[in-house]
Parts: sequence; structure tokens; C-alpha cells
Amino acid sequence: MTAHARNQWYVAAYGREVGRELLGRTILNEPIVFYRTEETKEVVALSDRCVHRRYPLTAGYLEGDRLVCGYHGFAYDTKGSCVYVPGQKRVPRTARVSSYPVVEQDSFVWIWIGDPALADPDTIPRAPWLADPRWKTVGGMEPIDADYGLLVDNLMDLSHETYLHGGYIGTPEVAETPITTEVDEGAGIVRVSRHMDDAECPPFYARSTGIEGRITRWQDIEYHAPCLYLLHSRIAPVGVLPGPDGDDSDAFHVEITYAITPSTDDTVYDFWSVSRDFAQDDEEMSTFLHDFNRTVVMQDVDALNLLQKALEKEPEGYQELSINIDTGGLAARRILARLVAEGEEPAKAPAADPTAVSPATR
Ligand SMILES: [Fe+2]
Repeated sequence: MTAHARNQWYVAAYGREVGRELLGRTILNEPIVFYRTEETKEVVALSDRCVHRRYPLTAGYLEGDRLVCGYHGFAYDTKGSCVYVPGQKRVPRTARVSSYPVVEQDSFVWIWIGDPALADPDTIPRAPWLADPRWKTVGGMEPIDADYGLLVDNLMDLSHETYLHGGYIGTPEVAETPITTEVDEGAGIVRVSRHMDDAECPPFYARSTGIEGRITRWQDIEYHAPCLYLLHSRIAPVGVLPGPDGDDSDAFHVEITYAITPSTDDTVYDFWSVSRDFAQDDEEMSTFLHDFNRTVVMQDVDALNLLQKALEKEPEGYQELSINIDTGGLAARRILARLVAEGEEPAKAPAADPTAVSPATR
């Protein structure tokens, strides 16, 4: 299992998913409830367990900006402090649930799970096209029943497009073209590039760009561990890329963005988006790109669900075999291991006696 790095920002949701309906997500094994305040529309993220009897607060309701437990009526403010207990005037001082730092940026709701004192919004990596009107974006989120490390592996090694996504986005050239890998250990960024000079145009790009014949296809991956994965995709008829100054401005630009958020030890949220800077007003194109890409994402979901089940049956200590193509994925694993070590928390205090009676119940 790939351990979770706690002191990091993770995508919890798209901003459009959070409103006045309570949204529940489990992130790094912590159940969390999300909603927006009535006036200021700020996103609130609280532990999804009532302090009283651990009832999920997602099964409760909002009263203004207060969240009311649907079991016995404990009410919480936006910071997680209990402000009302039915049947008694005094609210126990310890009656509070955790509240989490959140930041809305680039259409995502980012959450910080670890030590709140270390949460610096300036360290959140950017995907500016997601909220830029010059780009048209389609996307979604699929939960996968697999260790999040398997999704990182999957996205770092796109040679699988040829085999798993043949007839959609894969062509023989993807697996055949060597990659170059660059690792910025300090910043936690891995870059993997594959530039195909003369390749078959897969249906995904033939239908969206209208190019007939062979293409130059660039795949430039930029993985910001642990959560944000960017694939800068550049497509042009053969001979156009690179442009006169070595640039890519005459190509079709597609930005493929993934957010990889561990849910539990063996489940992960797969947030995916496809952004384009052409045919922005073409609704039919948007529908095509959404549906086609979702099919591709579901091919990965099915493969990773299958792989997870197979790995669970493997004996402890099985040996993998890695090849050149795995350079980026192995660098990502190294960086994740370092982030985990940095986020390790001191040993937990012994759990409170569950039979102790708090003043609220006397
Ligand atoms: Fe894939």
C-alpha cells in the first residue's frame, strides 16, 4: 500500500459540487462534510462525525450556516464548535469537530488534512486553464477501488495508451517512442516527455481537431506530487511542430488535468478534465470530448480495479520488474515516500476511554 502524505493539499471536489446540499467525501481516511455558507458562499469542511455518538453529519441538515446533526440535534458553527445541545443550557467545552483549511482555486476545492499551522495556500500547484474563459473544459470524477499509487503509476507511464486505450487515444507510436524524464526532487515535480514526430492520429484527436493524416504529437507530463497531474498535449499535422522559434503556438492545445486524491488506503478519487483552446463554442464537440474521454477514464478504472484485486492476492514482498519507461513513475514514488516521511505525526495519544461520561450526558 502507498502511504498517504498528510501535510499536503488535496483536491476534495470541484467548486460546482459544493453548495447548500451536504457533500460527503472521505479523504486520507477522514470522513468530511462540505457545504457553502449562505451569504459569503465560502466552503466549509468539517469532520463528518458528530462528537456525541459519531453519527454522520452528512445525514443532518443546515440551519443558516449551522450544521445540525440529524440524530440528536447537536448544532455546529462553520469552525466546528458545537453551539447548541438540546435539553441543556451548557455546551461542553470539548464539544467540537475538526474543521479543515480549504482554498478554492482553478475550479477546485483544495483541502489540507495535516497540521493546519503548516497549510500555506501559496504552495498549491496551478492548473489555470480550468477556470479561464479562453479555454473550454469538460470533466468529471470517478472513484476507483485501488491504492492511489496505482493511479500515479498509470498516469506516469502513458505507454499503456497503446494497449489499454487502442482505438481511442492509443496508437503504436506512443509505446514505441522513448521518453525523457526530468526530476525536481526539491519541488516534488516529475516531468516526462514524449515527442512523436510522425504518428497515427487517434480518433480522439482526429475527430476533435479535424486533422486528416499523420500528426506530430507531443505529450509533456508535469506531475506535482502528490495530487496534481498535468498532461500538456500538442497536436499538429506533420511538419508544423516545432514552430519557427521552437514554439508550439501553431498546434492544437489540449490540457489534460488529473487530481489524484487518496480516499482510503485502497480507494482513490480520480478527478479528470480535458481543456481545449479551439472550437470553444462547439457544444457537440464538448459532448464528444466528455463522453469519449470518460470512456478512456473508465478503461483505466476497470484496469486498476482488476490490478488492485490481483495485488491483494500477492504474497508479501513480491518483486516487480521495472524498465526504462518506469523512470518517471519510480521518481514519483521516491518523492511520495519523502513527503510521507515529512508528514509523519508524533505517536498518537492513547484513545480516550469510550465509556467515560461527558457533562453533556449527565
Ligand atoms: Fe489510461
